[in-house]
Amino acid sequence: MTSYCSICWEDDRIRLLDQRRLPQEERYWEITDYREVIEAIRTLAIRGAPAIGVAAAMGAALGALALHAETPPEFQAKFAAICREIAAARPTAVNLFWALERMENVARDHAAEPPAAVQALLVAEAKRILKEDGTVNLRLAHADQEVIDEGAQLLTHCNTGALATGGGWGTALGVMRAAWEAGRRFSVWVDETRPLLQGARLTTWELGKIGIPYTLIPDGAAAALMAQNRVSLIMVGADRIARNGDTANKIGTYSLAVLARHHGIPFYVAAPLSTFDFTLTAGSQIPVEERAADEVTAFRGQPTAPPGAPALNLAFDVTPHELISGIITEHGIARPPYTTSLKHIRHQEIARHA
Ligand code: MRU
Repeated sequence: MTSYCSICWEDDRIRLLDQRRLPQEERYWEITDYREVIEAIRTLAIRGAPAIGVAAAMGAALGALALHAETPPEFQAKFAAICREIAAARPTAVNLFWALERMENVARDHAAEPPAAVQALLVAEAKRILKEDGTVNLRLAHADQEVIDEGAQLLTHCNTGALATGGGWGTALGVMRAAWEAGRRFSVWVDETRPLLQGARLTTWELGKIGIPYTLIPDGAAAALMAQNRVSLIMVGADRIARNGDTANKIGTYSLAVLARHHGIPFYVAAPLSTFDFTLTAGSQIPVEERAADEVTAFRGQPTAPPGAPALNLAFDVTPHELISGIITEHGIARPPYTTSLKHIRHQEIARHA
């Protein structure tokens, strides 16, 4: 386990580590109102696809607890409205919608029961989503026993550690941690990840705590390092993966995949099944979040561009499946052709819950 907890549920309130303040300050935010959860997701106090899912579920549970509804139908209608509000917090990470669907299913399955009973069931479901996230990511972390070689020079982008999940291990960073704890020795190039510096602020912080050696680089340095044969493997997380393996992840991931192909470097994605969107046939259907321009023209309130400079702030890009060597999931590594391998993994998941 880690010494910090990205998000947890305590006495009908949420306690989350405010990631905007890291690495300078390890401050927890106690939340009792679901509207604050929306704010935390929007402002990236909590971020990373699996962590956003857990936060959404807990936010819905908080919203349900605060509802004053006389009748079951009134409760159902008000709860659905709260879920719609939370769903609008961020558009790309599918875990948000996946978690809310689970919560809404619980409410619907018990539609005839008194509100107090449904409230208790919703809190239980949010806690279950948190717990499952931990076990799923533990399995994912140990699914790879051969991708990270002894002496590997890994490169990663954004943050995929315990911070980006409900705690415990993380996704791509969890795979690194499992390999490290199994005794393999390697090092990691960490992209700083403009504009919000999830790599510089968070991945370095987490790798440092585990004890994995890393070197922070500006995003633009990746190509030169690859040309110098100083990168042997790229591993990133995902925010949404379509049926054909096309993967949305933090802006800058696609350029890394193109560079990897040019230099003959394996490019891996690590993600739990909750990050797959099997309703989408291709990545072009994934909604890509556009965030405020001032995240590009300033950092923590300090201007980094002339006043009024126009800026475009796409938060994610989509890496085409052709550029991905493998997708590491809790059911093992999916390989191309992904339409077939992901279908197989999905069936394994369905069978597991049958
Ligand atoms: O905008 P963010 O910080 O939420 O983006 C996060 C990412 O892109 C991560 O790489 C992704 O969610 C994987 S999390 C294990």
